[in-house]
Amino acid sequence: MTRSIDFNDRMLSLGLARVAEQAAIASADYIGRGDEKAADQAAVNAMREQLNKLDISGVVVIGEGERDEAPMLYIGEEVGNGNGPGVDIALDPLEGTTLTAKDMPNALTVIAMGPRGTMLHAPDVYMDKLAIGPGYEPGVVTLDMTPTERVEALAAARNCRTRDITVCILERPRHEDMISEVRATGAGIRLITDGDVAGVMHCADRQVTGIDMYMGSGGAPEGVLAAAALKCMGGQIFGRLLFRNDDERARAAKAGITDLDKIYTRDEMVTDNVIFAATGVTSGSLLPGIKREVGYLTTETILMRSKTGSVRRMVYRNPVH
Ligand code: FBP
Repeated sequence: MTRSIDFNDRMLSLGLARVAEQAAIASADYIGRGDEKAADQAAVNAMREQLNKLDISGVVVIGEGERDEAPMLYIGEEVGNGNGPGVDIALDPLEGTTLTAKDMPNALTVIAMGPRGTMLHAPDVYMDKLAIGPGYEPGVVTLDMTPTERVEALAAARNCRTRDITVCILERPRHEDMISEVRATGAGIRLITDGDVAGVMHCADRQVTGIDMYMGSGGAPEGVLAAAALKCMGGQIFGRLLFRNDDERARAAKAGITDLDKIYTRDEMVTDNVIFAATGVTSGSLLPGIKREVGYLTTETILMRSKTGSVRRMVYRNPVH
């Protein structure tokens, strides 16, 4: 096994929590206000400002998009004050812009950091994803299995009936067949309208969330963020990039990806130790959303380090003037 690269993750993790908190606080005024773009922009601005205060020489690997379409936090942007270790940053300043605009559950601000060169440069295409929580043999479920086989294999591994399994799936027309097939096994499905980083993270804490498995396609960048979260929480995730046209294949080539059919494991998406922070914007099963009271806002952030498996929950009371 290769030695992990030290990137001062212990102290930097506390700074990372502040970055996630500030992005959430900036989006607070947009919760339930019907304007996804404004909510996202506020979170982007705040996340970037706070990130640039950290003692790192960071590069955004997973960000807001290509440089020509995203002026801030674009892929390749250098962030941090330059006085620190070289690190890769994966971020989504507001994961669930529509959830925020409509005040629906599970909108989060998300950021992960690892040593330079340790995160998959996933292009902005879809990824077929499959995730389960900790405690299972490696490969107990795989992307090559049918949805029925996955449910049956997981039920056998858990020593329960298929009807005791709950699967989380994004509600999209492209998932109709998958949804019917999973329902035919007797398993339950929690349909979500957006936010598959939270969807995957739910698998890692089934006692709290009631979710055993996540499957279906969503954004590839969100797949890498979810892999970072599971690397800290435990659990397995597999992802295969999906390409709809030549433009998307060109994006992969630009990101240095040559094997377009490869199935990535969690540790191939995030190859070394990582730190991960997410702050709840709207309330969900994993994190409460921002609470607004006269004179202050309260946020809750989950902050995790894969090196130690430590999980902190940080409640922050922020005076507003
Ligand atoms: P935004 O925060 O950019 O709105 O994305 C939310 C999201 O639901 C992701 O969690 C998910 O991976 C992706 O969009 C799914 O994409 P699509 O809406 O095209 O199915």
